[in-house]
This record gives sequence, C-alpha cells and structure tokens, in this order.
Amino acid sequence: MGDLLRRYWMPIAAVSEFDSQSIKPVRLMGEDLALYKDLSGAFGLVDRRCPHRRADMSYGFVERCGLRCNYHGWLFDESGRCLEQPYEETAAPEAKFKDRVRIKAYPVQAHAGLIWAYLGPQPAPLVPNWEPFTWENGFVQIVFAEIPCNWFQCQENSVDPVHFEWMHMNWSVRLDDRLGPYSPRHLQLAFDEFDYGIVYRRIREGMSEADPMWTVGRVCLWPNALFTGDHFEWRVPIDDENTLSVTWAFSRVPKEREPYVQGRIPAWHGPVREPATGRWISSHIMNQDFIAWVGQGSNADRTQEHLGASDRGVIMLRKRFLRDLDAVAKGEDPKAVIRDPEVSRCVALPVAERKLLIEGLPLAELAKHPILGRQLTQGYPFQVGQPEDVRRAYEDAMGVR
Ligand code: FES
Ligand SMILES: [Fe+2]
Repeated sequence: MGDLLRRYWMPIAAVSEFDSQSIKPVRLMGEDLALYKDLSGAFGLVDRRCPHRRADMSYGFVERCGLRCNYHGWLFDESGRCLEQPYEETAAPEAKFKDRVRIKAYPVQAHAGLIWAYLGPQPAPLVPNWEPFTWENGFVQIVFAEIPCNWFQCQENSVDPVHFEWMHMNWSVRLDDRLGPYSPRHLQLAFDEFDYGIVYRRIREGMSEADPMWTVGRVCLWPNALFTGDHFEWRVPIDDENTLSVTWAFSRVPKEREPYVQGRIPAWHGPVREPATGRWISSHIMNQDFIAWVGQGSNADRTQEHLGASDRGVIMLRKRFLRDLDAVAKGEDPKAVIRDPEVSRCVALPVAERKLLIEGLPLAELAKHPILGRQLTQGYPFQVGQPEDVRRAYEDAMGVR
C-alpha cells in the first residue's frame, strides 16, 4: 500500500508555517525527512540525515540556494545535489568529492497554501487543482493533527455515512449531558464510484429525494481524503501506525465582504488528548472521528469485523484499492492519478452547497444557515484548539467583529 500511495502527491505542511521557521522535521511514509524553504523561496524535502556523517539536517541552515548541514557545512540543493563541501574543496579540490555525494531528495510544490510532496517513481503526476482551490471570496485555514493509527482506517471513515448520525449527532447530545432526542435515522444509502473517488449519498428521516445530500452527496476523495464541499481532510501516512490529518477548510465570506482576497492562509495544529487525563478530546467533530480511528487499534484487525449493509462503501473502497495494487504491480497508474495538464487545471467535484459557496449569501442569511451560521458565532466546529489570531482573522474576513 505504501508503494501505491507513493503514486500521489501528499499535502504535508502549510506554506505559512514557513513565515516563522525555515526548516521543519517531517516523517512521511516511514521516512524521516527535513522540509525547508531556502532564502530564494524554494522549498526542498531531503533526508533528515546528512550523507556525510549523519547529522540532523533539520538543525541545518538555509542559504540562498539549498540547505546546509550545521556539522561540517556541506550544502545541498532541493534536487539532492551536493553544492559545497567546504573543507574537501580546500584540501583536495581536484577530487571533486561533492559530485559523488547526494542527499535523498523528493519533489515538493506549494499549492493552495499547502506544501505537497511526491515520494513515488518518476515521472511524477500533477498536483491536482481541485475546484475549491480556485474559488474566490473565501477565508481558508489549514489544520493539522497527528493521529496514532494507520491512515487506512481513517480513510474508511470517509465512506461511512451512518457514523454521522451516531458519532456526531447522537453522541454530541449525550456529551452535553442530554438524553435525547435521537437524531433522524439513516433510511437509505447509495455509493457510486466516479473518476476521483466514491460519492456517498444518504436519506435520513424527514429528508426528501430532492435533498442535496441525496442528489449530490459527499465525496470519499482518492486516495486518502474526505471532501465535504467546503473542506478537505487528508489522511497522510506518517508511518504504518501514525497519520497526519490535514484539513483545508473554506469559509465563503458574506456578500457584503466582497471582494475579499486572503493575504495569507493561516495554519495551526490541534491537540488530540486531554492534558489532565490523557483521554482523547471529544468536543469537536473531527476529534470525535479521531476517537473512532484510534479506537480501532493502531492497525484495525479486519479479520474480527462483521460488515453489514452500512459498510457497502467501505467494501467498495477496499476492493478498489486491491485492484489498484494489481495495477501498480503491472506498472500501470492507479485510480485518479492526473497527468493531463488540461484535466488538472481545475478538477470539478460534486459539491452539495455549490451555489452558496460560489455566490455567497448576505450575512443575515448566512447567520441562519444551520452549520455555517453556527460557525460565525461559536467558533471552528471541526477541531479543537483554533488559535485566537486565526479566529480573529476569520471574524475579520466574515465581518463579524
Ligand atoms: S555531518 Fe553533515 S556536513 Fe558533516
Ligand atoms: Fe465524522
């Protein structure tokens, strides 16, 4: 599966994290790496260990071009070339030792406020320009969390509509110390594979077949994300037992705030445990999801499951990955790898609230919206720990301060 996932670009950090630092240690697909931004503004992703005598490159320093090891000053560029070996060049310039040394390096690209990395074989595909990345008049924030379990059980949650009723609706009511009522039950589910994932659709009690949750649905986005219309959640493998959750969340500003151009996309890391007890935090929607994922164990034991009708999407997902493992073994591209620049220019996705997200609403109407309206007054609902300055930037953008 690691070999398969390496065929895709992965979001691994936010561009704005490099406003206040130039190097960040990252662990990705079981490899320890150093992500840096050099003084020319170029990003690089190289081995955490220097090929000289293995010093930690995340304590190096950036130069006009590349990252220099702090131990003996060897300098490397983002392609992995060794540009300088100060003492070797003094002592034995004719040896050209630096031409025989490389540091492991992977391509990175900044896009939509995220830094994307590609750890697979060349030629690399394109970083998809998902349609929401092109939307205007939005306040975007990027949110991270480290989840101590395998990425795949996190992704299975992206195609599991029924958990919404129990884990988010019914449980949230109980967490508030209320006994009810039970939220409307799921009556009907549908799962349809399309070019970039699986669409899931639902009908709950009181809903008609005209509801966008049935006519459009939501997206389990290939290979490792959930797309709800206004936000993406990627589950990026740190290693077999840890996952980096990366959210890119778009909030359409009210009509009165147009034209709105966001200068900087803020990024923050949310906690997952209660400091006092070490128990998982359950107050926010994604924190609740995290509890399901880690609760399944570091790698969920599928031999002990009992799958039912609610798991049809999970079964589709697994079968599709099994087929793609065969495709990759045969040297073919797996699902949803994009190589055509025409396709990648703007990749449309099913969006239930498209009109609202593109055209916007007056503030008074937005405030009445059942989900987006609450966010205006009650804070970021998906993950705990939004910093004050990000909340202020959101309120400024929305005009609610
Ligand atoms: S260990 Fe990096 S330059 Fe010596
Ligand atoms: Fe959820």
